[in-house]
Amino acid sequence: MSGTAPIVVEGLNHFYGTGGLRKQVLYDITTEIPQGEIVIVTGPSGSGKTTLLTLVGALRSGQEGSVRVLGEELCGARPRTLERVRKQIGFIFQQHNLIGALSALQNVELGLRVTGLARASELQRRSMEMLEAVGLGEHLHHKPDQLSGGQRQRVAIARALVGEPAMLLADEPTASLDKHSGREVVERMKTLAKEQGTTILLVTHDNRILDIADRIVHLEDGKLSTFTDAVIANNRQMMEMLADNRKKRALDEVVDDLDESGFRHLLEEITSDSQRLLEATAMASDVAFRGMLRQGLFAFTRKLGQLLDADRASLFLVESDSLVLRVADNLENMGEVRIPLGSGIAGAAAKSGEIIRIDDAYADDRFNPEVDRKTGYRTRSLISLPIKDRKGQVFAVAQLLNRHDGKPFDRHDEERFDLFISSLGIMLETLEGLDPGSLVHGSRES
Ligand SMILES: Nc1ncnc2c1ncn2[C@@H]1O[C@H](COP(=O)(O)OP(=O)(O)OP(=O)(O)O)[C@@H](O)[C@H]1O
Ligand SMILES: [Mg+2]
Repeated sequence: MSGTAPIVVEGLNHFYGTGGLRKQVLYDITTEIPQGEIVIVTGPSGSGKTTLLTLVGALRSGQEGSVRVLGEELCGARPRTLERVRKQIGFIFQQHNLIGALSALQNVELGLRVTGLARASELQRRSMEMLEAVGLGEHLHHKPDQLSGGQRQRVAIARALVGEPAMLLADEPTASLDKHSGREVVERMKTLAKEQGTTILLVTHDNRILDIADRIVHLEDGKLSTFTDAVIANNRQMMEMLADNRKKRALDEVVDDLDESGFRHLLEEITSDSQRLLEATAMASDVAFRGMLRQGLFAFTRKLGQLLDADRASLFLVESDSLVLRVADNLENMGEVRIPLGSGIAGAAAKSGEIIRIDDAYADDRFNPEVDRKTGYRTRSLISLPIKDRKGQVFAVAQLLNRHDGKPFDRHDEERFDLFISSLGIMLETLEGLDPGSLVHGSRES
């Protein structure tokens, strides 16, 4: 620990209540946040996120361990110390706490005035500039009830940032906002913070904004998990999201109605969710992350099988001159299945780059019954679909076996399979060792 970072927390414990009601809510928290970093705190409800934020924000004094913020020790600190630190921090809460009787401009001016850091003659000019910076130049004289939720939240951000605080603490700042305004709000926060070198600690449940973070910190039952744990938790959350009832119903409806626009919409949703997740977690190129991605792929591939009413769905990855089976039922009991490129239907699909659809596998010369032999399964109809990276190279082959109704797969199945698989391309590419840095910086097209 350098000790010079604006936030240095070591061995922090926190308790609420006294006597028999005393309950520990934070356990041995240790973390350090360097200047200018945006750190997101995630974790389930009740895990202690707000408590941690209020301790770092000098809104209460720490009890055990050490919380050093902007050079001051806050554990056991006197009220005067807390106040001195608090004045250097901008706060944004879910309920933005704007004063209803004051205009946007007056609210921001008030925020600047209480810092005691600006001359009276500067109050108005700086407040106007800040409101313009958050895109509210046209709304200076509107009162909170004349503004939309997103605009009110932006006033709150302007108020929090106008004093150029060394640090910004935000608790669920996007909770009451729709997707678009939520995004806009955090983008503004990020830009302004990067310009001013502000350190940001942001609590959120909102997976859609994780990618603005330099780092994600995950709390579970008052304990800090490692970054890898956070990746796993977030990934699991996404998988649960995919499996939840709402989605299941949507999938079933799509299948029943064969409504392609609904289907496309669903795929877009899934794609953007997985992309966000990957952007947010792309820093982690470690083994555990890859392990989770593989599990994620397994879930996706199975979903695909269900969606297209296939009996089995499997996935091969190209590894040097072979296809290796990576996702399949009973993979653990099968031993490694490795097929030379060009051999078998999957190999042929990989080699030609074309989808192959077959009504009766055993009647086709190219069919390699090795996997059937290993699993005791009997393949009848199948579709093999090569998956290409952005350079057009095949790096995986997805395969569906046997439609539930006993009929062969048809052209319509083929089209939907193709559509679904292309939405998974992002996930697959990452798995296959695409430079993780390029995801973070958005240069995926290179
Ligand atoms: N003032 C308080 N007195 C007693 N217990 C409290 C108090 N504030 C919070 N708690 C308890 O401490 C635990 C952590 O609460 P905290 O508000 O920090 O959770 P959180 O992670 O912010 O949850 P959420 O996501 O729901 O906002 C919870 O079990 C909560 O019930
Ligand atoms: Mg909270």
